[in-house]
Amino acid sequence: MKEVWKGNIVHAPRLKELEVLEGGYLVLEDGIICGVYQNLPEEYRDLPCRDHGNRLILQSFADMHLHAPQYPMLGMGMDLPLLDWLQTYTFVTEARFADTEYARNVYSALARELIDNGTTRVCMFSSLHTDATWVLMEELEKAGVTGYVGKVNMDRNGLPGVLQETAEESVSETLRWLEGCHFQHIKPILTPRFTPSCSDALMAALGDLARERGLYVQSHLSENTGEIQLVGQLHPDCREYWETYEKYGLWKDHTLMAHCVHSSPRERQAMKDAGVVAVHCADSNVNICSGICQVRQLLDEGVWVVLGSDIAGGAQLPMNQVITASIRASKTRRIMDGSDFLTVAEGYYLGTTAGHRYFGAGAGFAPGDALHALVVDDSDMPQAAAELNPVQRLERLLYRMQPHHIREVWSQGRCVHSRDE
Ligand code: GUN
Ligand code: FE
Repeated sequence: MKEVWKGNIVHAPRLKELEVLEGGYLVLEDGIICGVYQNLPEEYRDLPCRDHGNRLILQSFADMHLHAPQYPMLGMGMDLPLLDWLQTYTFVTEARFADTEYARNVYSALARELIDNGTTRVCMFSSLHTDATWVLMEELEKAGVTGYVGKVNMDRNGLPGVLQETAEESVSETLRWLEGCHFQHIKPILTPRFTPSCSDALMAALGDLARERGLYVQSHLSENTGEIQLVGQLHPDCREYWETYEKYGLWKDHTLMAHCVHSSPRERQAMKDAGVVAVHCADSNVNICSGICQVRQLLDEGVWVVLGSDIAGGAQLPMNQVITASIRASKTRRIMDGSDFLTVAEGYYLGTTAGHRYFGAGAGFAPGDALHALVVDDSDMPQAAAELNPVQRLERLLYRMQPHHIREVWSQGRCVHSRDE
């Protein structure tokens, strides 16, 4: 069915440029975008029209890096640097997901919270447990979240007997997991945790699998100086961290690499050349004192940058808060080195379009794309000195939005959440 929406549309077709259609029109056919217009074309005048009044119609968010089994430790234990943090808090938390009933409880709440906060696309790490990973995929699918989930591979430097596989188990469980992935909107992605967690044999097997089955890959890169030093010791033949992935066929088009805080100019160039995507996780980088990523430099050099909450290194699941954390981190860099900070328009683009493109979507509300959108009501926010325009309202919402402001969430053309019934 074809229909027209009327409302205040703000979308981000390009990095530096918002497109604002105050009292504009979105034409849809069965959840697919036909077009966005300031003035409704003649041919659509007779279609049924939903008037959203003064509400905003925004793009939904894409969280391109988060750890589902770390949801129970959200907001805790951020007083240690990465490698100690993993050994002290993270691995024991993830170990509990051997219990699928526990997983069901945690993952249904996580999926709900994602949708309530307007995140409709994700690239997510599970734990090493195959069965709990299926539970996670099921719960995301049920809630209306779309995207990629990975069973984590880790066969060294974990917690032996608590959270660690052998290389053989890791490969055979990955194959078993792939066999059981029959979900409509949640697809598998290969997930070597990071180089310190994966033996050469495991990395090689995963690289082969990625090539044979045409699977995408997600991992971590150059997050922390101690981690980089360890990678250097494990792979003395590699000049830089990224080469440990390249060596095994894991460094390729659409490979997602979280962090890239300490990436050298050569590493950044290698990302650009291979089509590797940098996932900037600003809140996490500050919380566990990893550093502040040079996002401006990555963008200027033409690297594809997206945003991630990286819970539970990051302590904020709502992507509007992840966007403002990125802006704040970039301003810290500005104070330190004078580089240009991220603007609100850029932050919104990185948290929406840049991520949605990973899944094949176009720029902003693009014709032919399934609708990923939020209908937002900010009428209970304090009255400002003068009437706010849609861009000012977007800025305030990015900093101040609460779940109750999000009246409807549309994911892959379906309304998956409404507060108006
Ligand atoms: N590197 C390897 N594993 C992890 C993780 O769980 N979180 C973060 N932030 N970095 C990692
Ligand atoms: Fe991470």
